[in-house]
Amino acid sequence: MPEGSRFRDVRVFEELDSTNRYLVEEAGRGALDGTVAVARYQTAGRGRRDRRWDAQPDGALLMSVLVRPEVPPNRYFLVTAALALAGCEAAESFGVVPVIKWPNDLLVGERKLAGILAQAFDAGGVPAIVIGIGLNLVPLPSGSDAAPTSTSMTGERPRGSPILSPVDLVAPVLEHFEQNYGQALESPAILMAQYRQRCATLARDVRVTLMRGAIEGRAVDVDDSGALLVRQSNGREMAVTVGDTVHLRPT
Ligand code: BTN
Repeated sequence: MPEGSRFRDVRVFEELDSTNRYLVEEAGRGALDGTVAVARYQTAGRGRRDRRWDAQPDGALLMSVLVRPEVPPNRYFLVTAALALAGCEAAESFGVVPVIKWPNDLLVGERKLAGILAQAFDAGGVPAIVIGIGLNLVPLPSGSDAAPTSTSMTGERPRGSPILSPVDLVAPVLEHFEQNYGQALESPAILMAQYRQRCATLARDVRVTLMRGAIEGRAVDVDDSGALLVRQSNGREMAVTVGDTVHLRPT
């Protein structure tokens, strides 16, 4: 990464269990803000809500970043929004234009190109966030559960385009993330406006699966803490902070 970048310590591994797990541990050992872990393969990749995240060797960008946040906990969403936007911008530089499904899935059409997992924790009395992105470069094997609903850079680029390697995406994602996170610190309203503009969940009918049960309604906004505001058919608005979203009707 360029001189002066926040990301001076980029550690690339042939194989790790999980880049998120690795950095959480490194944070406890005093790793600095901006430490990055990239793995060409993960043996126990983690998804949101305790799911697995699978990819073949070199089949996805598997990268996590340690952030010592300069924003209060009720603004941690800015960090994930900054990375979700960075993932979109990096994909765009290779001709693929994703949208964001709340909270942080990158979709092309209705298929998932990338997912983001953020873990906020206390590392020896100091708040820390490890945020990881898994961005598919090639299609998942057809037997994989997620294959029918996912896509990849190869799947979205014109036939015959060279296959991208994880390393091709590292610098573009980190550069955009650095820019976006800087924007989040300087003018959070602008970053949130960019997020809302890219968020395909807004103005859609959605079903959100919560820890217990689910709600349906029209997604009307994402507030500054990152909660999705859902207007139910009885007119009541509910702010959802954690959940899995399904877009109910195609646009
Ligand atoms: C999701 O469920 O959509 C989030 C998936 C996040 C996967 C990435 S891959 C790099 C980092 N390390 C992990 O173990 N998970 C994240």
